[in-house]
Amino acid sequence: MKDTVGVAILVSGGGTNLQAIIDAKAAGQLPSCELKAVISNKPEAYALRRAEKAGIPAYVVPKIGRGEAAQVEFEERVDEIIRRSGAEVTVLAGFMCILSENFVKKYPERIINVHPALIPSFCGKGFYGLRVHEAALSYGVKVTGATVHFVNEIPDGGRIIMQKAVDVKEGDTPETLQRRVMEEAEWKILPASLEKVCADILAARRNDAMNDQL
Ligand code: GAR
Repeated sequence: MKDTVGVAILVSGGGTNLQAIIDAKAAGQLPSCELKAVISNKPEAYALRRAEKAGIPAYVVPKIGRGEAAQVEFEERVDEIIRRSGAEVTVLAGFMCILSENFVKKYPERIINVHPALIPSFCGKGFYGLRVHEAALSYGVKVTGATVHFVNEIPDGGRIIMQKAVDVKEGDTPETLQRRVMEEAEWKILPASLEKVCADILAARRNDAMNDQL
């Protein structure tokens, strides 16, 4: 029986969360995970360079056009890369496309996402990247943070795996707050959640194998 779970990481931008996963793997903190593929919808995403430097196969799947047919084609290509790579768990690490219900239903509790706020605050459709921190600051919250959760058909609506709170400071801008939330929360709980999800899959598999022998 395999002793790791294959992981694909979907990205769109700078890829600092991908880097946190790569660094955690290099530091021996992800013993249950094997990083199989990085997929970007943006050819210019710096995350692709990070994947190449780490020796992880990197792919670009641009989303061409709008509407259902474009979404179906995009998802079919992403799905094919995930399946061919042997990944069983997919991480959305700054992936700025919403996946359809049809796609996520194929992978129940096998897709995880990092969101830069404490869900259920500042989440759902339209809340992504810097916009989340702009909303938190304009609301005047004193504490924000990050959430890692399973992805289901509701944007930011799946079961929560880990959360970490971060203080908002006097004079914070969306940019300073974004950076602090990444450093203090996202880069810690994303690799930790990924390891937990993969370790749980392996434990369930070992348990099933033992029961089969009884
Ligand atoms: C991160 O803050 C991530 O939480 C956020 O985008 C940033 C990507 O940064 N994701 C979302 O807002 C998704 N709803 P990165 O490319 O440096 O990891």
